[in-house]
Amino acid sequence: MNAAVVFFSYEGNTRRIADDLVEDLDATAIPLTVTDTGDDPEIYTWRNHVIHVSQTPTIRHPEFEPEEYDLIVLGTPVWSGSISPALRSFLDSQEFFRRRFALFCCYERRVGSALSDIRDRLAGNTIVDEARFCTTERYAASMTRDRIREWARTLCADIPGSGVPQEEVALGRKTT
Ligand SMILES: Cc1cc2nc3c(=O)[nH]c(=O)nc-3n(C[C@H](O)[C@H](O)[C@H](O)COP(=O)(O)O)c2cc1C
Repeated sequence: MNAAVVFFSYEGNTRRIADDLVEDLDATAIPLTVTDTGDDPEIYTWRNHVIHVSQTPTIRHPEFEPEEYDLIVLGTPVWSGSISPALRSFLDSQEFFRRRFALFCCYERRVGSALSDIRDRLAGNTIVDEARFCTTERYAASMTRDRIREWARTLCADIPGSGVPQEEVALGRKTT
């Protein structure tokens, strides 16, 4: 199976999960970086963060051709009850049709419309699974290595003909 993990991370939680998934799925990492916050920025506030960025800032990322992948995993932190602006820009800049996706988000209190906002942008594609990772200290157990490995295993099982022996995926020893 050829998989890509496309993600934005501001504080590192989404990146940590994305890194684990890249390892478990033997996937290509596509990190999104904001290069220009854009005109007419919104103000996003959270704890001590005050971030000025438009809803669709200019981003950059490694070369990405959706057709090359059997599975595209999308990961984002929840910002103001929705997806991160960087992921919104990515989704707006791509044409996806008949691709398979898995979605995950990192949040502290409320996922809001984050996952449904992604789903709405992926009409005509298949969402094989979704995962939510609560990143507060109290719930950080949701981000354990075992849970992420188990999710990766489920994703492989959902892709017809991935040809990957599940025990090997669980052990991070995928060879095909
Ligand atoms: C600007 C901003 C807005 C946020 N808004 C929300 C929110 O609406 N709901 C929520 O549960 N968490 C919210 N959070 C918390 C993040 O979703 C959470 O800390 C996540 O783990 C961060 O992922 P990251 O480390 O990959 O950036 C917000 C964080 C930031 C920086």
